[in-house]
Amino acid sequence: MQLSDRLQSLPPYHFAEYARKIAEKRAAGVDVISLSMGDPDLPTPPEVLDALAEAARQQVNQRYPEYAGMPELRAAFAAWFAQRFGVELDPARETLPLIGSKEGLAHLPMAVINPGDVALMPDPQYPVYGTAVALAGGVSYDLPLDHERDWLPNLAAIPTDVAARARTLWLNYPNNPTGGTATLAFYEEAVHFARQHDILIINDMAYSEVAYDGYRPPSILEVPGAKDVAVELYSFSKAYNMAGFRIGMFVGNASIVEGMTRLKSNIDTGIFRPIQVAAIRALALPESWIAERNAIYQRRRDRIVAACHQAGMAAPLPKAGLYVWPRIPAGRVSTQFALDLLDSTGVAVTPGSNFGPGGEGYVRISLTVPDARIDDAVARIAGAVASLA
Ligand SMILES: Cc1ncc(COP(=O)(O)O)c(C=O)c1O
Repeated sequence: MQLSDRLQSLPPYHFAEYARKIAEKRAAGVDVISLSMGDPDLPTPPEVLDALAEAARQQVNQRYPEYAGMPELRAAFAAWFAQRFGVELDPARETLPLIGSKEGLAHLPMAVINPGDVALMPDPQYPVYGTAVALAGGVSYDLPLDHERDWLPNLAAIPTDVAARARTLWLNYPNNPTGGTATLAFYEEAVHFARQHDILIINDMAYSEVAYDGYRPPSILEVPGAKDVAVELYSFSKAYNMAGFRIGMFVGNASIVEGMTRLKSNIDTGIFRPIQVAAIRALALPESWIAERNAIYQRRRDRIVAACHQAGMAAPLPKAGLYVWPRIPAGRVSTQFALDLLDSTGVAVTPGSNFGPGGEGYVRISLTVPDARIDDAVARIAGAVASLA
């Protein structure tokens, strides 16, 4: 049977390919420590699980859920947003639940991009952006993210004819994979740029609640007037260790929220209500829960960064996110380097080029494995210093 031209034109999802390589190693008896996925290993809070179980027993929750989510969940989104960022949202017009933020990112281009429209994209990037834009017939224009510019795109360098054809600007802070963070000053500049060129900003905030050393990432919606030009996506996966639940949050510009609601009502039929009830419970967790959880990741971050330095790889200390992004030894290609590391140590990291050409020269190391395994990985990397260069 024939697959569509559209599907055939998709690039391979490198993470799936790499997962196959890891599985092969494991099948061959290698004790692989995979630091290649941002899949939180820490448990979902028990009160969230209780809320899920209790809601699942109620028959009303076993029927079709609302297309646009439970009104109680949308109210909880708005209440959380007001408390966290000091920004008021209209729950009915400016919020929408997603089946995980990946679902929202993947469907959004169908609501906002016409064939041939330019999408301004970070490079490196979470690969779903480019694929989703291509599926909608859009064309990506890459904006390099460099360490020298604190991993922020240089909006002033975008040629005027490109800006004129652009319909969307994709941002992601805290950034995957670089660990970069955005200042409010940068968000102000982005909002100004978007207004000037009539562009929608899509800010992926999947890592909004994973931050270190007391840092709290801001929302672009804190910029006055940002709602005119911006939407944001949030993830319960990373914020509350709920990756398996598949729930996310879409907020911002009311007409885009309405468009996404219309699009999604033609594609999916909402989210299992008990998952929404669990999300409401998660949003009520105290700030101290977030701080304690982040302290665990922070210790792991420090150990991994130290191990990278010991192995001769420069690695900035990320202020947020679930990854360390070290430079690999000069002259090495990231896919081969990651394979060599896997072969020589059994430690799996993600080649930087999986995130686009701008990721070449780096690997991404995830913090989502238990402490004892991190220790083991650190020891293995340190032992392999000579063979890595
Ligand atoms: C930058 C970024 N955005 C979105 C997602 C998707 O998260 P989820 O669909 O679990 O909410 C991920 C997952 O790794 C991510 O790294």
